[in-house]
Amino acid sequence: MVGLKNYGLRTSKSRRLYEKACKVLPAGVSYIIRHFEPYPFYTAEAKGSKLFDVDGNEYIDFWIGHCSLILGHSPPEIMEEVKQQIEKGTQYGTSHELEIALAEQVVGMVPSAEMVRFTNSGTEATMYSIRLARTYTGREKIAKFEGGWHGGYDAVHTAVKPPLDIPESGGLTSGTSKDTLALPYNDIEEVRRRVKNEEMAAIIVEPVIGAGGCIPAEREFLMGLREICSERGTLLIFDEVITGFRLSPGGAQQHYGILPDITILGKILGGGFPVGAIAGRQEPMQQMDALTYKRPRFSFHGGTFCANPITMTAGLATLRMLEDGRLLNELDKHGDYVRGQLSDIFEKCRVNVQVTGVSSLFHTHFTEEEVKDVHGAFRADRERLLDYHLHLITKGVFFLPGKNGALSTAHTDEDVNRLLTEAEAYARGV
Ligand SMILES: Cc1ncc(COP(=O)(O)O)c(C=O)c1O
Repeated sequence: MVGLKNYGLRTSKSRRLYEKACKVLPAGVSYIIRHFEPYPFYTAEAKGSKLFDVDGNEYIDFWIGHCSLILGHSPPEIMEEVKQQIEKGTQYGTSHELEIALAEQVVGMVPSAEMVRFTNSGTEATMYSIRLARTYTGREKIAKFEGGWHGGYDAVHTAVKPPLDIPESGGLTSGTSKDTLALPYNDIEEVRRRVKNEEMAAIIVEPVIGAGGCIPAEREFLMGLREICSERGTLLIFDEVITGFRLSPGGAQQHYGILPDITILGKILGGGFPVGAIAGRQEPMQQMDALTYKRPRFSFHGGTFCANPITMTAGLATLRMLEDGRLLNELDKHGDYVRGQLSDIFEKCRVNVQVTGVSSLFHTHFTEEEVKDVHGAFRADRERLLDYHLHLITKGVFFLPGKNGALSTAHTDEDVNRLLTEAEAYARGV
């Protein structure tokens, strides 16, 4: 409650903006997850690891653009190239060299990628991947996992968070729900049992459950999925929107040594600009080639801003900085340190906390039980988590309340130590 009062005192301009926003934006926001109680602050500027709000408050940003900004806000190396590209055109609407260069870069880095198509968001990439899998296999059903978040597309908008039988949105048809099986994460024996008699176009999985609690898959689980898909002619889709270019230069598939048929990419790939991509083996990807496959064997993908030259420029510059793995190795060490220290701090203060995550991703669950899936994540004390995050916000450390944290190369030791100091202050007060 002290957190609430402090927040109100520090954010009066944001409160006024929120009231204005509510008249023209439902819930005052452009994406419901950006809303938090009592109201979100409004950002005026961002640089490196920091956000600055309209009231002049400074925050160390561990949400870092929905975990997309692995080099921090507006990294100078990327911005320089973007500025040059702006002079050359912002939206060609025609084919251009940059899209080839970024596709080649992705193929060079992501082990299973032979061909690529760009979209403007992870959601779009999911949508077109599922359509592609259906076209390629001639089957309708797909399987996803409990707690899996793949964006707002109908086919994957079920079983995201408990209670799992309530869809994430209204407006889904009964056909949509019937065609999507929801399977338990990290439980390969149960998956085998449930899919035994199913004809599936695709199994889509996050190698690290993101929004559902920042929970890494066990290797045997992903291996089991690979086996099931290979045996049954089902496409294995890795949703690497979060893990791509973060867990390693080649993403989670390189980290685990397991290759999917199709990979969905987003976030980091755009270098700070809107993006998504479908990458995969040549054979299924070719199904998007209307010169080879006539209707209805052709699988459509496209859009006005696909392969936008600004995004391609920023993405290419970003991937080139990540490809040798040096920056990612450093980030991983930082991630290990943060997870270890947070665990120790809460343990020392006798607060039951499980810190999950891998690489440069982390999440704090207020529970004593090990968190292995979304059920465990939602059995944890979520009110306590929101209170903890609001406390941090009033101390200038930003997590989107209730969500994962991520590190960027812009985060300094000082930034990380500030988080640890404020986490300890909170733990002592619990
Ligand atoms: C794993 C995963 N897949 C897909 C998406 C959807 O991406 P977008 O928000 O760009 O549509 C997200 C977004 O957070 C995500 O975390």
